[in-house]
Amino acid sequence: MYLARLIYTSHPSDNFKPEDVENILTASRRNNLAKSVSGLLYFNQNYFLQCLEGSRSSINQIYHKILNDDRHGTPLILEYKEIVERDFPRWEMGYLPETADTRLLYRRFSGADEFIPYHMSGESCHRLMIEMRKLVKAV
Ligand SMILES: Cc1cc2nc3c(=O)[nH]c(=O)nc-3n(C[C@H](O)[C@H](O)[C@H](O)COP(=O)(O)O)c2cc1C
Repeated sequence: MYLARLIYTSHPSDNFKPEDVENILTASRRNNLAKSVSGLLYFNQNYFLQCLEGSRSSINQIYHKILNDDRHGTPLILEYKEIVERDFPRWEMGYLPETADTRLLYRRFSGADEFIPYHMSGESCHRLMIEMRKLVKAV
């Protein structure tokens, strides 16, 4: 059961409503717990950035479910990697919305002050999410 990490980004679609975040997290935590998947979801109204970690088959199954969700679109895998250790082992799905603190991180990990994950390397996105981990309130 090789451990792996997948980081992708996507846009909310016209079908997405702000109150969907709560439903997405409830379903995520239920399904991810059942498959020993952990991770972090960041959302800034324009983009989702999500890290999934777990066995590669579980990640694959969860990612396929996510791809079929019409509340977002234009998914792009930014990183897929076999890893030796999880970064978010305690969170079936941690969640972080944009705040003044998260905005300060954009310039550090990208070539712009604006957050456009489609223009960022997988490694920058990974490091950004590690920094974001400190800003997540208790799940
Ligand atoms: C941005 C985004 C992230 C999501 N993340 C997850 C996730 O980590 N795990 C998960 O099971 N579902 C996730 N979902 C929800 C799935 O797309 C799908 O609605 C859900 O898995 C369906 O659950 P069910 O088959 O138990 O009804 C996400 C959806 C969106 C739009």
